[in-house]
Amino acid sequence: MASLSFPGLTVALLVLGLVLSPGLSRLTPRVSFPMGSPGRRLTFFSSREVSNTTTLLLSTDGGSLYVGARDAVLALDVSSKDSFVLRNKLDWRPPEKDLEQCSMKGKKMADCSNFIRVLEFLNSTHLYACGTFAFSPRCTYVNLETLTMSLSPDEGRGRCPYDPYQRNTAIIVDGELYTGTVADYRGNRPVISRHLGEGKRVDLKLDDTLGWLEDPTFISSSFIPQEEKVYFFFSEVGREYNFIDRFMVSRVSQICMSDIGGQRTLQRRWTTFAKAQLLCQADGELPYNVLQDMDVLAPAEGAPADDTLFYGIFTSQWSVNSGRSAVCSFRLTDIKSVFSGNYKVLNRDTLQWSSRVQEKVANPGECGLHNASDNALRFVKENFLAEESVRPVGRSLTMVSTEHAYSHLSVQRVQAANGRLYTVLFLLTEAGQLHKAVLLQSGAHIIEEVQIFEPPRAVRSLKLSSPKGVIYVGTSDGVVKIPTANCSFYWTCAQCVLSRDPFCGWDPVSRACVEVSGSQTTLNQDVDGGNVEKTCNGVSLTHRTKFSLSKLPTASCPAGELVSVSLNEVVRLGCPAASRLSRQQWERPNSRLSSDLYLHLDDGGLSFVATPATLGHYLCLSTENGYRHPTAIYHVRQRSSPAVQTPTSPNTRVPTQAGPRPGLLTPAGTGTGTGTRTPGSGVSTGNTFITTRQVTPNVTAWTEESEWFGSGFRDSDTLLSSRCPSYGKELVAVSVLLVLCFSLLLTTTLYAVRLRCRRRTAPQTETPVRDRRTPEEQAALRGNQLPSKSSSEALGRGHASGLVCNGTLTGSREHLPNTPI
Ligand SMILES: *[C@@H]1O[C@H](CO)[C@@H](O)[C@H](O)[C@H]1NC(C)=O
Ligand SMILES: *[C@@H]1O[C@H](CO)[C@@H](O)[C@H](O)[C@H]1NC(C)=O
Ligand SMILES: *[C@@H]1O[C@H](CO)[C@@H](O)[C@H](O)[C@H]1NC(C)=O
Ligand SMILES: *[C@@H]1O[C@H](CO)[C@@H](O)[C@H](O)[C@H]1NC(C)=O
Repeated sequence: MASLSFPGLTVALLVLGLVLSPGLSRLTPRVSFPMGSPGRRLTFFSSREVSNTTTLLLSTDGGSLYVGARDAVLALDVSSKDSFVLRNKLDWRPPEKDLEQCSMKGKKMADCSNFIRVLEFLNSTHLYACGTFAFSPRCTYVNLETLTMSLSPDEGRGRCPYDPYQRNTAIIVDGELYTGTVADYRGNRPVISRHLGEGKRVDLKLDDTLGWLEDPTFISSSFIPQEEKVYFFFSEVGREYNFIDRFMVSRVSQICMSDIGGQRTLQRRWTTFAKAQLLCQADGELPYNVLQDMDVLAPAEGAPADDTLFYGIFTSQWSVNSGRSAVCSFRLTDIKSVFSGNYKVLNRDTLQWSSRVQEKVANPGECGLHNASDNALRFVKENFLAEESVRPVGRSLTMVSTEHAYSHLSVQRVQAANGRLYTVLFLLTEAGQLHKAVLLQSGAHIIEEVQIFEPPRAVRSLKLSSPKGVIYVGTSDGVVKIPTANCSFYWTCAQCVLSRDPFCGWDPVSRACVEVSGSQTTLNQDVDGGNVEKTCNGVSLTHRTKFSLSKLPTASCPAGELVSVSLNEVVRLGCPAASRLSRQQWERPNSRLSSDLYLHLDDGGLSFVATPATLGHYLCLSTENGYRHPTAIYHVRQRSSPAVQTPTSPNTRVPTQAGPRPGLLTPAGTGTGTGTRTPGSGVSTGNTFITTRQVTPNVTAWTEESEWFGSGFRDSDTLLSSRCPSYGKELVAVSVLLVLCFSLLLTTTLYAVRLRCRRRTAPQTETPVRDRRTPEEQAALRGNQLPSKSSSEALGRGHASGLVCNGTLTGSREHLPNTPI
């Protein structure tokens, strides 16, 4: 892309009235699935003979997928949701002599293959396919059943690019092929044309010579039956902005199906071609001017065709916006009104545009101009660029991503459990992630992010199969499919509702998050608000500020875990993030998490040095969208048999995740205890999440010991089990332990405090303790000297600070059996 010279940019900014965009809000996907995650399984089709998937074509029933690739067309049976079955394959390789000629012309041998670039249904029995064929494009008819070529190949000039790296678009309507491509070897004769009239009608085209198109990149084409028009979407150089060097603009253009060319003027040429600028721009910001992909969303049932929406991904030609992309949607009715308005005038001698108003002798873009007068057609030749630009719906951007460069999109309308319709976008990033976003009144919400492929693989096509609920992605080495949703990943009503996925709802009968189908209206779902309290009946949200295990919400009671530690050891408690939008917070019973003693880690974990004061219970709470629930409960206690303990190990603990289901997400890299302190409890922004549980031998599952306590407390047991069915017993144990340990802890700590305070007044003979700490401990303690907002705001009236003298831990090590001397 040409960069603007400084004066050019200044002029552009002045004339267009633009300023650089201010900081935009971030859109964080709620959950992230790494490649191969069990929560979002991918199905691959790849074979050694298949590479460079370029085109995907889906049968209307969604049962067959036709794949255009390098030197091949494949027919895949995709009627089963989790498999690909290769039904047939057509090998279509250029012969050796063509390959030799191609490489003699200086082309790379790999690029001389036949890359299939047009693959469309022609009629009920045949496909029409075109390929680059060693820089000498060919087209052919392919029998759908046998996948064999029916007739000898046609010349593909004007239907398919020569160069496999050039973009093109093609669509077949009523057996005729409409294409946008470059029509020469050197790639500088762009043309929009119609072929396969088969004697009934002449083939039509648009000359590149007359300035109809200016170095376009074709993106897509769409047929609107009610209008009897084909719309083309592309970006090109905006010659009307002649004061800026190579200012790119995105366009929509139209042609009428009924067009047969003029009688004398515009013979065998379009008489109904008109184009307009698509403006994806927020007020006062630089436009996202380069179209990347476009998908059409048909109007809802019963709505007029004018409500058809076109969703496009746009990027910017300026480096200030590099790496960013925007989604804009355009309504057909707005496109039509721009085409029926005024037109700019092209001076055919100088090829300069002006807005001078000519006496109107024809309505450009109007169907039926083919037998208009020569005068009218001459007018059409000069007036084909609409004066106005097409503005996006709501005059605003649908969504902007500051960190993801989106390259492909697919759009679907989804009926939620309450019958309301939501627009869901599937967006593919250049880094190989698929984002599923639902468009809400409040803006876009990214439900999930799934890693589909790893760069440097490239993607050429994205296809959504609504009837099957599957997305297909064609990459450089095969085809991947993924269901549009996996509702069973959400293991509680709260998670199901918080996802705000219109595909998923909580079924209170089966107690599972299930896919919404038309008939189920009893599902709990709140796509707009994601309000758990209102939606999940019986879920108590009012988690007390006090650590009170009997008042835990019932929906998700994590199993408590016993963590055995040696005193003076750095303990690290993990807190699995329920989602990337949740904030984690730690609590202790009746005590404050003083910032002198506790280090809040970036990943939501908690780190501290085991002392009598820090032994005890810990609860990690996750808050998302106003819903608070515990995600981890720990009991940290001193190891029971100190005689066999090894000295303080520098290893920090990674406790097992306390989650009711293994699907719980936890940030990766929970290996070291030297995290940096985050002010407050920030949203986890890590990009990688692992879904496996890490179990260290030092951590005993809480449940192992809980049996012993559980038996004597029937009453509270039954009380609890009605609230928290699967973890009732453990919770009783926790409650009992809480009481027991708390009194024990109080006694021990009071004793320890007395001991320490006494020693402090005594003459110090030992070397300073700090020197003997492990690096982790030192780092942890250094961190502790910084003030922590989140800790000082921690709930409960603390007496933890009272457990140590002068807020330091000095002197405590001497009496401890496991301290290295
Ligand atoms: C959906 O998620 C569940 C829970 O993580 C997993 O067991 C299951 O395999 C997933 N299904 C698919 C099709 O990805
Ligand atoms: C074909 O795929 C390879 C990688 O597998 C890539 O390097 C090459 O550029 C692709 N060719 C085309 C024409 O896309
Ligand atoms: C489909 O088109 C092919 C190629 O022109 C032709 O041979 C075939 O008879 C057509 N089939 C039908 C059902 O019209
Ligand atoms: C214009 O063309 C239509 C067929 O498309 C024909 O019926 C009509 O008579 C023509 N009108 C003139 C004035 O030639």
